[in-house]
Amino acid sequence: MKILVLNGPNLNLLGAREPEVYGDMDLQAFDKAITSRANELGIEVDFRQTNSEDELIGWIHEAFTNKLAVVLNPAAFTHYSYALRDACAAHTSAGNKLIEVHISNPHAREEFRQTSVISAVATGVIAGFGLDSYLLAIEQLARG
Ligand code: DQA
Repeated sequence: MKILVLNGPNLNLLGAREPEVYGDMDLQAFDKAITSRANELGIEVDFRQTNSEDELIGWIHEAFTNKLAVVLNPAAFTHYSYALRDACAAHTSAGNKLIEVHISNPHAREEFRQTSVISAVATGVIAGFGLDSYLLAIEQLARG
């Protein structure tokens, strides 16, 4: 099985950005740990990050077209991108999986973070466990 692990805006700054919220591991270390765990489970991972809504939507379309499961950290797009939501809805309503993940627990943070426009069209949501949010998502996808 091949999956896409997609990261939205500002996640390229992981490790340097608000380490008290997001920890001190950088994105490359996330990629390494996630890819290594996925490979142990027999899953091939394509790990990507973008600051562009356009590019992220294009990647969801690619997953939709190729019927690939997605682990998505939509970052700030979580809270307001109806365009990303529509792409995710196209993907999941066709029977494909998409797990929304967050490093922090947005529900325990500022009010604007307590709304996700993605969650209602995701297969499931995992938040608040740092890197483990992604690993738990991968393990869930490995269950089939
Ligand atoms: C985040 C939470 C979002 O509110 C924020 O905009 C991010 C990261 C997380 O992983 O905790 O950039 O998605």
